[in-house]
Amino acid sequence: MATSEQAIARYEADKAEQLEDLKTLVRIPSVSFPGFDAARVRESAEGVATLLRARGFENVQLLEVPGAHPYVFGEWMKAPGKPTLLLYAHHDVQPAGDETKWNTPPFTPTVMADGRMYGRGAADDKAGVVVHTAALKAWLGAGAPPVNLKIVVEGEEEAGSDHLGEFLRTYKKLVQADAIVLTDTGNFETGLPSITTALRGIVVVNVEVRALKQSLHSGMWGGPVPDVTMALVRMLASTTNPDGSIAIPGMRDKVRPLTDAERADIQGLPTDDATFRRQAGMLDGVQLLGGRAPWEQNWRQPSISINAIQASSRKDARNVINESAWARVGIRLVPDMDREEIAGLLVEHLRRVAPWGVEVSVDVEGTAGWWYTDPAHPAFQAGKRALEKGYGEKAVFIGCGGSIPFVEPFSKELGGVPALLVGVEDPYTNAHSENESVSLDELARATRSAIYLYEELAAAVAKR
Ligand code: BES
Ligand code: MN
Repeated sequence: MATSEQAIARYEADKAEQLEDLKTLVRIPSVSFPGFDAARVRESAEGVATLLRARGFENVQLLEVPGAHPYVFGEWMKAPGKPTLLLYAHHDVQPAGDETKWNTPPFTPTVMADGRMYGRGAADDKAGVVVHTAALKAWLGAGAPPVNLKIVVEGEEEAGSDHLGEFLRTYKKLVQADAIVLTDTGNFETGLPSITTALRGIVVVNVEVRALKQSLHSGMWGGPVPDVTMALVRMLASTTNPDGSIAIPGMRDKVRPLTDAERADIQGLPTDDATFRRQAGMLDGVQLLGGRAPWEQNWRQPSISINAIQASSRKDARNVINESAWARVGIRLVPDMDREEIAGLLVEHLRRVAPWGVEVSVDVEGTAGWWYTDPAHPAFQAGKRALEKGYGEKAVFIGCGGSIPFVEPFSKELGGVPALLVGVEDPYTNAHSENESVSLDELARATRSAIYLYEELAAAVAKR
């Protein structure tokens, strides 16, 4: 019978290989957004499949859903009588953003003197893939894992997971499991192991405003002719109050207040406003909004952001009144907000406040639900023990301001099985931004924890 200590020893000997595996994945620009080359996402899926096979997963295959980037599946099912874990990560990434702001090329993985490897997807979420592959390889090297394992590596998480429903309808039997382990979140501080027990949801809309058949000379026509960019920014400005909170009527009505215990838990976490400001990279003098502890605000209140706005461009800026202006707006949702209702309220608000008779079109680009779990199931204590062994530090429960569309429908469809959310995305990761990176020490600690976790969950989760 293999012991976790033997598996850990195997992992220590194979760490360099894990880093090479991660580099191989980061070199593939698997951007899942429309307008980017879908062939590269497929190439990434094939790269992940090759890696899963090489590190010991069996029955490895791409799972296809029409219109979706491929999912990758694998399993190791040779622990009779033991529960089955469904491991999750995603192999797609966000676009690189402004390449001139990267200190190293985004798709050239580069280890720097700070002990971090830079590259798009290095942390979010290609590290999540190699945590699982290295953990399985370590167990196989020591003998055999103490649980059955299935793995799903998604290809469209960053684009909103639009085909999850169809995926579940098609492959529910194949992915059936007794618990889910996701490596796609992070730690409250580097080296401080954390289990995420809440995610925010999201509603994204695109809004376009038009007033003219074509743009006009701003001197020849300005005054009587409305400026659509002004119309759009007035509409957008009306979505918030002066303190930054959402001003759209009805939108905050269903926000679930924190219990005293929940607030005390957040207040007990080791941080303060100055730390938060530093981690976020806020400039001196810029205010923290919300009037609550920043992480309470981030995890348990909705927030709105204007991700992009366009009317002409900086390069083409000249004395004109533009004929159209566009913006992409996102609202993060918390318990108990209803995503369809919020999408409806946002669309209706933007139409209603549009000034001067301008033409407005608003489309909902996508939505994802929030997720919240009570960590009462023994799997969560098992998770804490595994993290404590892997990190040598006491583990904490945290929330998350981000979204992972997979979690809510999967834990539900699999019969309310516990979902453990862990990962390597520390506060310095710069996920979605330029210069994304992963701490190599964190990667090692997360992998050691995964090794312990398979053993801990084998005991804490019932086989059904
Ligand atoms: N890994 C992130 C989720 C996350 C965010 C974890 C912050 C830890 C801290 C995930 O890949 C992500 O970014 N999800 C998208 C989902 C969206 C496209 C529906 C997000 O939150 O924007
Ligand atoms: Mn991710």
